[in-house]
Amino acid sequence: METLWTPAAVKPRVRPRRLRRTAQLREALGETTLRAAQLVHPLFVREGSGGDWPIASMPGHAQLTVDRLDAELGEIDALGIRSVLLFGIPDAKDPSGSGAWNPSGPVPRAIAAIKRRSPSLVVIADVCLCEYTSHGHCGLLDDVTGAVSNDATLTLLAQAAAAYADAGADIVAPSAMMDGQVAAIRAGLDDAGHTDAAILAYAVKYASAFYGPFREAAQSAPTFGDRRAYQMHAGNAREALREARLDEEEGADMLMVKPAGPYLDIIQRVRAETDLPLAAYQVSGEYAMLKAAAERGWIDEPRAAMESLLGIRRAGADLVITYYAKAAARWLAEGV
Ligand code: PBG
Repeated sequence: METLWTPAAVKPRVRPRRLRRTAQLREALGETTLRAAQLVHPLFVREGSGGDWPIASMPGHAQLTVDRLDAELGEIDALGIRSVLLFGIPDAKDPSGSGAWNPSGPVPRAIAAIKRRSPSLVVIADVCLCEYTSHGHCGLLDDVTGAVSNDATLTLLAQAAAAYADAGADIVAPSAMMDGQVAAIRAGLDDAGHTDAAILAYAVKYASAFYGPFREAAQSAPTFGDRRAYQMHAGNAREALREARLDEEEGADMLMVKPAGPYLDIIQRVRAETDLPLAAYQVSGEYAMLKAAAERGWIDEPRAAMESLLGIRRAGADLVITYYAKAAARWLAEGV
């Protein structure tokens, strides 16, 4: 066989490897940073007291009653994590999800308890009805069609958001994917005097199989059908930009893309479209995949988890909501 060149003769003029030679060079020239303060720790708060219920598909996470939050908050604080995202698990559900705006429900009680203990922690409350409705959908059902009724749901979401702001939430995060939910919540908050409460809009939320473990954790799987009539189709990108623009116009203070890992292109495109801070949610299924592979010894968990978080930051997310928040903050402190 005839060769056209001899490898020994190749002398690259440009050698990117020069800048990768030492750990110090690599650290100095790193383009993307990950800090504990950029991570948001999700918490599942369950009604009642004296309990924690481990979530099987999300090792390391549990549903906690309000009186069990103390140890968790101490850890978060020590690790330099600045924000938590709250989800509620009520004892009873009904067709309208009225537990969502009950001022003595788990989320308002948790917010008040957190603000008493750690006043400076940024408290974000997820605003949706699916954890509170007996049918598991994110809004009210139309009596005639059985479909989720958009406009009738808006008032209820605004009511829930106001209840969380009343309790002391810094930020409310509407995740129901109803049209006009940001405008309705902004108006409701302003009417209630909560002009300082910010809105983190789940602007781009896909109908995703990766929410599976969350639905176990929050006991919020729909009892019939699915969420494809309100959450987005996985193949759509232009529609994501449209959703992001609408939420910005409606008064969102920050936007979110969810899930994160399978949608890095969407994070990048939304980042390019808006000057608002952008969050990305590494959801329950993304966490469960990494955990499961790590448990089998198939991947190196710290390295794989940190790589996935750095990728989300590199795509353009300012904040990353992740079930790895505590572990990642620990690994950062250890220099992983
Ligand atoms: C509520 C909500 C969901 C998630 C966050 N908020 C579930 C859903 O839409 O079914 C999923 C988060 C996760 O999977 O970690 N609507």
